[in-house]
Amino acid sequence: MSAFYCEMADRANQQGWRLVVFDPGQDLRHAHVRGWTPTDPAAPRGAWRQMDEPWPAAIYDNTFVHLAVHGYTRALREQAQERGVPLFNPLLPGKWVTHRWLTASTVREYLPPTVRVTSQQILLDALDTWSDVYIKPIGGYGGMGVTRVSRTGDHCRVRVDRTRRGGRREYELTPSALSRWAHRYAHGRHIVQRALPLWRLDGRTVDFRVVVMRGLAGRWRVIGVIPKRAATGGVVTNLVAGGERLSLDYVVQRAEREGFRLPVEELTSVALRAAEAVARHRPRTGVLGMDMGVTEDGGVWLIEVNPKPARSLLTPSMRQRAAQCATEWLVELASRHRR
Ligand SMILES: Nc1ncnc2c1ncn2[C@@H]1O[C@H](COP(=O)(O)OP(=O)(O)O)[C@@H](O)[C@H]1O
Ligand SMILES: [Mg+2]
Repeated sequence: MSAFYCEMADRANQQGWRLVVFDPGQDLRHAHVRGWTPTDPAAPRGAWRQMDEPWPAAIYDNTFVHLAVHGYTRALREQAQERGVPLFNPLLPGKWVTHRWLTASTVREYLPPTVRVTSQQILLDALDTWSDVYIKPIGGYGGMGVTRVSRTGDHCRVRVDRTRRGGRREYELTPSALSRWAHRYAHGRHIVQRALPLWRLDGRTVDFRVVVMRGLAGRWRVIGVIPKRAATGGVVTNLVAGGERLSLDYVVQRAEREGFRLPVEELTSVALRAAEAVARHRPRTGVLGMDMGVTEDGGVWLIEVNPKPARSLLTPSMRQRAAQCATEWLVELASRHRR
């Protein structure tokens, strides 16, 4: 079993609970679920065995985002709801509703100006006002379809690192082609955001994934701050779209050498406040991954909130802390459920 689940099983056992790892793709309409559990609960790093287990008291939906968006956990969520079993993370609405929630919270000043594209004109106006924008699918993830449009004179340069079909795309739009092109975004499934002049390292833009989780007593904690750097000339920093992960110590030192102080504390405090704001709308939320930017003037920005942040970005010690928090939040939910 993976180190992550071994750590979770160990924590659960210490708190008098048992961890069961199961595939949500199975038929869940029975009184039991088929899952894996340590053969000896006191030795979770030893062998595990597969067994039929009674329905759990609380569930951590840990499926990959690409499976979740294709409905892999739909039956699990329905069954959990029917049985009154608490499950985290709850589904979060897309980027637009999340943006609206945050606009009504204490982190509003950290949000880049954003509008939903419900007409061709809204997009053309955004380009006129900001000259450099990001257009993003409201339900997107992994940098897919994230498009940067920059005005240069009366032409526009359009760049995407990860198209739906995979691969990069870059082209110019003439003024006459622009409004026809904008028309395809008129259906309300995208947001447009002012492009932030993000801080760069070796000429490549950097942003920061700040992962926060709920632990004991439901308190939010910072699991890690992970800098990500775009490819040369890249639009996004997502690893699946050509970005790379860097270590925070390295990035802080490189910045210092340039006489730039990275506002790491502000990044984490804004991330924690944003998590509390989301949790007011979805109280069972237990893990969030914020994409945050630092601009050349030292300003801190909250670019987006991920309800299923990739664990591949985390270092082994962050993963260990994540496993501990996930277990603590599961136990908290399970205890409330049993009460
Ligand atoms: N307004 C913006 N200004 C500068 N960079 C941005 C902006 N919006 C997105 N990006 C870059 O694009 C990446 C992907 O955008 P994001 O909103 O996180 O969408 P996704 O859900 O696809 O990851 C971000 O991590 C960041 O590097
Ligand atoms: Mg992102």
